[in-house]
Amino acid sequence: MSKTIHILNGPNLNLLGRRQPEIYGHDTLDDVAARCAALGSELGLATQLFQSNHEGEIVDMIHRARDEAAGIIINPAAYTHTSVAILDALHTFEGPVLEVHISNVHQREGFRHHSYVSLRADGVIAGFGTQGYELALRRMATLLG
Ligand code: DQA
Repeated sequence: MSKTIHILNGPNLNLLGRRQPEIYGHDTLDDVAARCAALGSELGLATQLFQSNHEGEIVDMIHRARDEAAGIIINPAAYTHTSVAILDALHTFEGPVLEVHISNVHQREGFRHHSYVSLRADGVIAGFGTQGYELALRRMATLLG
């Protein structure tokens, strides 16, 4: 049976493709979900993608992943830079955690340079556009061997 990877997305990413496309590109989150599902089946991984605009719901998603997922790929969006609650939740998860940012956060405003989530993440991808999710999935396959 293939291992399941949860791909969690934070606020405003429901608007991906329509939101500041000059920064985040034209792909939608549904496009990302479809491409990750296709790549996952090549890699022997099942993927499930979730999105929420609410911090507590993202904490609940991480708790659910404790029972249902072998690994987490997370783009916490703006909560990356603010949320101790999401960091604490990720500390309760035992499998690999990979952090993805579509844009190169280090090229942007100073407040985007710090990530609470990076204190737990096993790897970080930033600035590869939505392809970053697929690169993280390939890394996940390696980590889960
Ligand atoms: C983001 C970068 C964050 O700083 C921003 O708040 C987002 C998206 C990214 O994918 O580049 O919403 O996580």
